[in-house]
Amino acid sequence: MQTRNLGHNGPMVSTLGLGCMGMSAFYGRHDDAESITTIHYALDRGLTLLDTADMYGPHTNEVLVGKAIKGRREQAFIATKFGIVRDPDNPQARGVNGRPEYVRAACDASLQRLGIDTIDLYYQHRVDPGVPIEETVGAMAELVAAGKVRHLGLSEASGATLERACKVHPIAALQSEFSLWTRDPQTNGMLAACRKLGVSLVAYSPLGRGFLTGAIRSPDDFEADDYRRGSPRFMGDNFTRNLQLVEQVKTLAADKGCSPAQLALAWVLAQGRDVLAIPGTRKRSRLDENLGALDVQLSAAELKTIDAAFPPDAAAGDRYATSMMHMVNV
Ligand SMILES: NC(=O)c1ccc[n+]([C@@H]2O[C@H](COP(=O)([O-])OP(=O)(O)OC[C@H]3O[C@@H](n4cnc5c(N)ncnc54)[C@H](OP(=O)(O)O)[C@@H]3O)[C@@H](O)[C@H]2O)c1
Repeated sequence: MQTRNLGHNGPMVSTLGLGCMGMSAFYGRHDDAESITTIHYALDRGLTLLDTADMYGPHTNEVLVGKAIKGRREQAFIATKFGIVRDPDNPQARGVNGRPEYVRAACDASLQRLGIDTIDLYYQHRVDPGVPIEETVGAMAELVAAGKVRHLGLSEASGATLERACKVHPIAALQSEFSLWTRDPQTNGMLAACRKLGVSLVAYSPLGRGFLTGAIRSPDDFEADDYRRGSPRFMGDNFTRNLQLVEQVKTLAADKGCSPAQLALAWVLAQGRDVLAIPGTRKRSRLDENLGALDVQLSAAELKTIDAAFPPDAAAGDRYATSMMHMVNV
């Protein structure tokens, strides 16, 4: 398994991790037994980085990951997140909480659900604009001192926030959406800040929430409660226009002799050795396909062609609904 450092001189983790979110939330029906088999298979193949969060489910995804790593703790590098607070009465609503007492309670709850003594990488899922980042990261640093957490991360934090956070405690990773149709980290200063500060960029939704694989042809492919039905890029005219982008991925992939999913992942990984990706899948066959991206090397000329086909504003529609866009790049 190919590995990359997390942060400058940080721990080595598998270059491709496994996003576990869809095993419990947002993307339709799930089957815990199949998901656990997939996680076991990932560990068998040498993939170490497993990505979850307390808000996936909520809570059930951490329990699932905890079950899957029972007896195999040393093979896994567990990344989880706190800070997005869900309203049980309104599944669409999202709050953020970065207060120190919340950070401490959230960590204890995650440790318990995961059934582990130490979280390898603990992310603040979204920056809380009402709490200075120094206070939140200060509380996270105390968790490191207490042995409850090994490394710290932020998700969707701006470059300026990352810089302030790094003054309190080293940050190993910044997680952000990053893919052929979401190139924000390259245009909003996030990737540049990561490079300046020695922080790895962990790309989430690197397959465009499945869209870039070509497997989704119509909004009717989604189950009734699938989160993507309410996500701007998957709605109405945007969906139709974005299908044209998928056609380009397919053509580029055919030219390269790989699958669209592999091309999308290879592009992310080609952005630098300080970039990792955590594609999500519930299925072993797709995990195999995605891991095949590690063998796809894109030349400078191929990257230029892909960049030209996917300028930063290529996608139709925002990557989140308006109510959630204000929570990114904070
Ligand atoms: N920090 C954050 O705010 C944040 C936000 C979103 C996600 N994440 C993390 O990032 C991880 C990955 O992101 P994501 O799951 O949103 O999106 P993604 O990895 O871009 O795509 C996942 C979707 O693609 C499908 N898929 C995977 N491999 C495929 C293949 N080879 N061919 C066809 N379809 C394929 C999956 O379906 P099947 O399961 O049916 O294969 C799933 O519906 C999540 O699991 C989560 O851990 C973090």
